[in-house]
Amino acid sequence: MARILITSALPYINGIKHLGNLAGSMLPADVWARFKRGQGHEVLYICATDEHGTPAELAAAAAGQDVRTYCDEQHQIQKAAGEAFGLSYDWFGRSSNAPNRRLTQHFAKVLEDNGLIEERVDQMIYSIDDGRFLPDRYVEGTCPHCGYEKARGDQCDNCGRLLDPTDLKEPYSAVSGSRNLEVRDTRHLYLLQTKLEQRIRDWIGTKSDWQTLARSIALKHLDEGLIDRGITRDLKWGVPVVGPDGGPRPGMEGKVFYVWFDAPIEYIGATEEWAEATGHSWRDWWRTDEGADDVRYVQFMGKDNVAFHTVSFPATILGSGEPWKTVDTLKAFNWLNWYGGKFSTSQGRGVFMDQALELLPADYWRWYLTAYGPEHSDSAFTWEQFQSATNKDLADVLGNFVNRIVKFTESKFDGVVPEGGALTDVERDFQTRITQAVAEATAAFEAMEFRKAAQAVRAAWVLGNEYLQVAAPWTAFKTDPERAATAVRFALNLVALFARLAAPILPFSAPQIAASVGETDLGWPSPDAAWLEAVPAGRAVAHQGVLFTKIEDAQVAEWAARFGGEG
Ligand code: MF3
Ligand code: ZN
Repeated sequence: MARILITSALPYINGIKHLGNLAGSMLPADVWARFKRGQGHEVLYICATDEHGTPAELAAAAAGQDVRTYCDEQHQIQKAAGEAFGLSYDWFGRSSNAPNRRLTQHFAKVLEDNGLIEERVDQMIYSIDDGRFLPDRYVEGTCPHCGYEKARGDQCDNCGRLLDPTDLKEPYSAVSGSRNLEVRDTRHLYLLQTKLEQRIRDWIGTKSDWQTLARSIALKHLDEGLIDRGITRDLKWGVPVVGPDGGPRPGMEGKVFYVWFDAPIEYIGATEEWAEATGHSWRDWWRTDEGADDVRYVQFMGKDNVAFHTVSFPATILGSGEPWKTVDTLKAFNWLNWYGGKFSTSQGRGVFMDQALELLPADYWRWYLTAYGPEHSDSAFTWEQFQSATNKDLADVLGNFVNRIVKFTESKFDGVVPEGGALTDVERDFQTRITQAVAEATAAFEAMEFRKAAQAVRAAWVLGNEYLQVAAPWTAFKTDPERAATAVRFALNLVALFARLAAPILPFSAPQIAASVGETDLGWPSPDAAWLEAVPAGRAVAHQGVLFTKIEDAQVAEWAARFGGEG
């Protein structure tokens, strides 16, 4: 039994997330957490809302609410949406909670003690019309690297480069649109990342288990050269900057830490929230001197987050000189696009988590987003592909197999698993091939190859249907009832196996499938043939209602009209 800590990038508080956010971090993290729990490992899956910084302030202002109230409400909404999607967090915390505040101030203090933080008077963009500084996303303009015209002050969405607001060409205020801006002096704390460059490089060298996408992004950022980064902001909402005595820091009263400084620390903070609420220890998950040395820590995130997790957050952690657990395996995802373009909240393009569940149950989305997700390259959501994945994989292959054999058992064997006779070469052959598919699915999940894992799972389901074609118990029943009984018993055991294979991706349907053959074990199967014995003769089986309904063309037309179908 291993101890596995899993985190998925913390969703910004500013509104419910779209399917692209889900597909690139929270969903694969959940699928993998379920896979690992299913193997019997001790898993702690932590997530939280990322509540500070300009995204929160801007969204609260747009909603006409004070930030605290806005965050309280949005946290509940995101938590509920996650649960409705089956995201099996052990804890869903809040970066605005007390543990993160303490930890953030702690890290700033030890970094300063270690000579890695410096106060600097810096020039920042001040908006005369708005009467305030414009940090990060409060200012937008043209990217100096790629010319993209809607680059944000902290990062260009087009080329992915991290930016400082003063880098932007033709800047304007994101609050008012005003271009009446000037540069003013303001005092801030700087994290001296330049001093940490070699340590970060060496540390990355020790990480053999990062996916290619993550490693290449990390090295690209290091090769571009690290700069000392301002880790405080002229904002009201956030973790307050404090002096050595914990009180306001002279000359920096009213300033807060930059959201990207405190947000990843909330991985630890949320674990502390979990520990407080459940009576566990958080330190044996995070402090290598207190038991965390045997933890495997796995992070999931979209590719835009990689630089922050491979360079900025490690700078905080390594710079502290304290024995914190660092990420062992980093799995990054590409973009899920909406047809040819991007999901867009403002333009109402794309489907958001709450809307998705109004259309169809979570498992339909979970299957599509896992089996056809943006894993090795960007992928595009289209209603047509979603329809075909659902209808073929779930309805025709999995649903149909379970239905056919369970209903046949009900009609011809009084709903009781028959004894049957000895397995023949036909069963042996399918047993070998299905065991092979289980082994492939296991290896793919171990390697965090989600699309491959889903295809191997699907391959096992397909073999189940093929077996029914070949063994044809409905024909055999007329001439050789014992042969039919053998096939039925074999196939009912496949139902139990298929539920277990489905469980990480389809957590709502898997128990329903298992229940139809009287099973509750949804643990991940080992690739041996023990699954042949799970469902004994004499057990009652019962069809549990329709598993998956096909998506009709008319629905596709309606949804495309409602949510925007073209890029
Ligand atoms: N909120 C950020 C985003 O959605 C991710 C933060 S991840 C964290 O891009 F680790 F910093 F919290
Ligand atoms: Zn750019």
